[in-house]
Amino acid sequence: MQSSAKTSATVAPIAPSTGRVESLLARVPRAVRWVGGTDGELELLDQVALPGEVRYVRCCDVPAVIEAIRMLRVRGAPAIGVAAGFGFYIGVRAAAAADAESYRAKAERVAAELIAARPTAVNLAWAVRRVMRAALQETMPAASAARALREAVGIAAEDEAVCRRIGEHGASLIPDGGGVLTHCNAGSLATAAYGTALSPMYVAHASGRRFRVFADETRPLLQGARLTAYELSAAGIDVSVLCDNAAASVMASGAVQLVIVGADRIAANGDTANKIGTLGVAILARHYGIPFYVAAPRSTFDPACPDGSGIPIEQRSESEVGSMFGRALIPPGVRCVNPAFDVTPAGLITGILTEVGLIKPVTEAGIRGILG
Ligand code: MRU
Repeated sequence: MQSSAKTSATVAPIAPSTGRVESLLARVPRAVRWVGGTDGELELLDQVALPGEVRYVRCCDVPAVIEAIRMLRVRGAPAIGVAAGFGFYIGVRAAAAADAESYRAKAERVAAELIAARPTAVNLAWAVRRVMRAALQETMPAASAARALREAVGIAAEDEAVCRRIGEHGASLIPDGGGVLTHCNAGSLATAAYGTALSPMYVAHASGRRFRVFADETRPLLQGARLTAYELSAAGIDVSVLCDNAAASVMASGAVQLVIVGADRIAANGDTANKIGTLGVAILARHYGIPFYVAAPRSTFDPACPDGSGIPIEQRSESEVGSMFGRALIPPGVRCVNPAFDVTPAGLITGILTEVGLIKPVTEAGIRGILG
């Protein structure tokens, strides 16, 4: 892992004294936690129940992990990756007493099942493949399973540290006394901790900057209203929720000086898949001359994907659009379309903020530079 910034533009990192950011986040529950040792369990904050209820679901087998990922109990690209890393361990642990050949076959099956749970966030496949690669360096099944757990724990710790650094690199972008608009939830709840797009806000707030956050509600599943507003307000940051279709008028009013969003997959040329609606926000930001930044760890880049046209876009159930809280919103027989993500072309992105610094302008060479 590189530790120094290799970037095409620099921003001065801000590092508030130890503990200040952490005390802001003390009231935000962790999205993913591993409880116990090799015989432990995966606990996932059930984000479907937020903001009304804080409850954890226990995942004791691979189908339970897959169900939690598909139902968005755990969601957000990095958090999905962290959960799936533990999911892989849970799967191979069950085969640790088998012979080496059956163990390997089981490992490959578990990896394929987990990777197929959701298609767009590349962190899922990245984490599962990384844990499997590490595990299969050991030939004995029991040792291999133990190695898988160590790698999954390592990914979780690394994601937390990486997100903290994204915040330090991005905090100086947050306008003191100004407004920041974000879409979906790219916060602590979407990662091991701190978040990607929200991490600079936590670091800036801990450093004394005061600003107002506009959180798009993010139809159809309301991650902005339910999750972003939940964690920012718990941390004491001034946040207002707006309907997605109010973003243009709020920008036109002059209240927004910065847009910052997360990412689910960034292609080699910088085209970025993120929650449906992000593309519209980027177009609006360009129209109103507002800088539009993406914040993401290097695990969200997919150099094998040349541009956004190769990013698989998850299509979710029509019922998520056609009903809400158990009530039909549309007449019977009317169809809905429900793409879960869209792709923002690199040309609309002012810069991409990573744990090693800022890529600005967004170019293929700049991206290659930070990926090493
Ligand atoms: O469908 P979701 O809730 O998993 O979508 C999440 C997003 O689109 C986030 O903005 C993205 O994963 C970045 S999370 C740090």
